[in-house]
Amino acid sequence: MMNDFITDKKAELIYKGKSYSLPIVIGSEGEVGVDIRSLRAETGLITFDSGYMNTGSCGSEITFLDGEKGILNYRGYSIESLAENCSFAEVAFLLVHGSLPTREELTVFSNLLGGFALIHEDMIHFFDSFPVNAPPMSILSSMVNVLCNYYPEMTENPLENIDMMAARLISKVRTIAAFSYKRSKGLPLIYPRHDYSYCANFLNMMFDSPVNPYEVDEEVVSALNKLLILHADHEQNCSTSAVRLVGSARVNLYASVSAGISALWGPLHGGANQAVIEMLESIHVSGENYKKYIERAKDPKDPFRLVGFGHRVYKSHDPRARIIKKACDQVLGALGISQDPLLDIAREIEEVALRDDYFIERNLYPNVDFYSGIIYRALGIPSNMFTVMFALGRLPGWIAHWKEMWEDPNWRIGRPRQIYTGPVSRPFVKMEDRSCKSSFCPVEETKPGVHCPVCKQDVRK
Ligand code: CMC
Repeated sequence: MMNDFITDKKAELIYKGKSYSLPIVIGSEGEVGVDIRSLRAETGLITFDSGYMNTGSCGSEITFLDGEKGILNYRGYSIESLAENCSFAEVAFLLVHGSLPTREELTVFSNLLGGFALIHEDMIHFFDSFPVNAPPMSILSSMVNVLCNYYPEMTENPLENIDMMAARLISKVRTIAAFSYKRSKGLPLIYPRHDYSYCANFLNMMFDSPVNPYEVDEEVVSALNKLLILHADHEQNCSTSAVRLVGSARVNLYASVSAGISALWGPLHGGANQAVIEMLESIHVSGENYKKYIERAKDPKDPFRLVGFGHRVYKSHDPRARIIKKACDQVLGALGISQDPLLDIAREIEEVALRDDYFIERNLYPNVDFYSGIIYRALGIPSNMFTVMFALGRLPGWIAHWKEMWEDPNWRIGRPRQIYTGPVSRPFVKMEDRSCKSSFCPVEETKPGVHCPVCKQDVRK
């Protein structure tokens, strides 16, 4: 399967007057690449592509996206049709198994999600060991890694057990996420219920309380389903690449997914959804003009970026952002929120930025994170849980990629090369002959008795 895209077409490379033929690979949607695997052996050259801006790291049947046209398909189905018609459990099944489930398959899968929802009682003690303000993403990443100690039996034969492991992980991550929230609030844990759907169960674990019973609202459930579906996969993004890279060393699924959660935490990746709402809140609370933030984002001397804007691959629009923006109005309306000042600010920022040459020239559009926080907030999810919500959504994608990589007969451990730019070979220096490299040395404006705290001298040796 994985080598089907290698054609007999060739690209020609001329180097030092000699011609080399490199195979052309063509994907099912017509994407064309050059297979450079033999390049170094034949020419001594490697390719240089910092940030993997133009590197295809694998063939994959899971997700197609066209950044120029703003297309995103999971297993051939458009994100619009899936968000409109499916539950998150259906889409999770689609990503992991490759086809949409029949009613019977969905029932079996949903029963597995229900049946696996508890976590080992001993793990519950771990929540008490984290500092009160520990970021939920750090808790989630740690707890998912720990799962392999409690459920090691299937990691021995992962390909035989991948369906069970997938259901187990998708189910337990939801429980861990809700428990971490309850613990951070000092509230009693609410255990999962078998009679609830995936999203309803999560919401109930988050918001039910012995003194204030939670009533599951179908509008809220439907909005959460939509958000999770929109986040469920995005081909070789940073966290998915992390899962694949870590998994390529043949580490178990839990540890690989834990690495993906850590990558997603970053403010340039999944962490942006929390950063967006914090940015909108600070504009609202301070009463400052949002245009100041746009000006700061454009200033090359200012590291500030308009969070929720820009994307490595989308250069016309992010289709997920369009769906979420539309859903904002529906969800807020259904929840009886007639007006949200943060939504107003977000809309104004988008309107002004999209007319601004800086953003137009750089193809900077609202991405999936720009409006998602407004919905999460309306659903009652606290902002420090937003990236955890992203992780819940992205989990089936990570699992699907991990599975695909393990099943690939052409799998190799991930191991990029580099262009070394350090010192060239030099003779060893004995300790007594080495000079102090401390940034305090030599001490600025040396005063009598003031010496470098490292080498104790007042001038660099
Ligand atoms: N605000 C202001 N300028 C920006 C922004 C932004 N949000 N994003 C990119 N630029 C500028 C950047 O300064 C650069 O300008 P110049 O050419 O003058 O140096 C140009 O646009 C290209 O940016 P880049 O950093 O080379 O682009 P990239 O593909 O490496 O980075 C990105 C993509 C998403 C990390 C970046 O657009 C960004 O930092 N956005 C804000 C964070 C964010 O919203 N992240 C969520 C991404 S979507 C969900 C996900 O992947 O998790």
